[in-house]
Amino acid sequence: MSTYTEDTRKVTTHRLFEMKQRGEKISMLTAYDYSMASIIDQAGMDVILVGDSASNVIAGNTTTLPMTLDQMIYHGKSVMKAVKRALVVVDMPFGSYQGNSKEAVHSAIRIMKETHADCIKIEGGIEIKESIQRILSAGIPIMGHLGLTPQSINKFGTYAVRAKEEAEAKKLLEDAHLLEELGCFSLVLEKIPASLGKRVAEELSIPVIGIGAGGYVDGQVLVMHDMLGINKEFSPRFLRRYANLYDTIHDAVQHYIEDVKSKDFPNEKESY
Ligand code: KIV
Repeated sequence: MSTYTEDTRKVTTHRLFEMKQRGEKISMLTAYDYSMASIIDQAGMDVILVGDSASNVIAGNTTTLPMTLDQMIYHGKSVMKAVKRALVVVDMPFGSYQGNSKEAVHSAIRIMKETHADCIKIEGGIEIKESIQRILSAGIPIMGHLGLTPQSINKFGTYAVRAKEEAEAKKLLEDAHLLEELGCFSLVLEKIPASLGKRVAEELSIPVIGIGAGGYVDGQVLVMHDMLGINKEFSPRFLRRYANLYDTIHDAVQHYIEDVKSKDFPNEKESY
């Protein structure tokens, strides 16, 4: 089995920082289970995100809000059993950190203790400053997340591009600086103009990873089901599909049904 990278050393937050400094782009993809995480890690991915997008692509919800801390820990544990090289980030789910910094640090500690992941990701800026400070004071590395923050979808009311207006762009820039000053090791920017992504990446020394934030940021992240074409319905402009697994799986399953119905499967060699 070929791997993209010969460098099998564990990816750390410090190595991501060095990658930014030497201009090497960071690759990041979501995973939620052992088998896929194993393939993704062995392919050479730098960062694996156990995203709360599991709510959409695994649990079939329309938003990420229903995801619980126990569910995130379940997915985190499954992924961690497979991963040897990539840095593994687990999303803090909706309701596990907003508005109560003591609960935030308790949730983050549970994630770290029970999954053995490397760090957590959390959505928001100044409004969750206290939670960020407490989590960092417990020695847990944080990846921030600004721009379109799906846990706030009910406030936004739409999944449209964020921070197109000057006031929102200014707030995003201030939040990005705040997250760096507080000590976050990295930042995800979702669905914002490429020019703003570029400005944030240039002004911050921590790595900035984009999803729909253009090509000037320090790395890219996609949801695995989207980039592998397992989802047919979701086609935002920023998504590049690298496979069409919906059709591949659909055809394989139909083939299997045909073989069972026609009694072609199992044959003698496949029987004891
Ligand atoms: O949950 C997730 O998959 C994410 C990515 C969209 C960055 O947060």
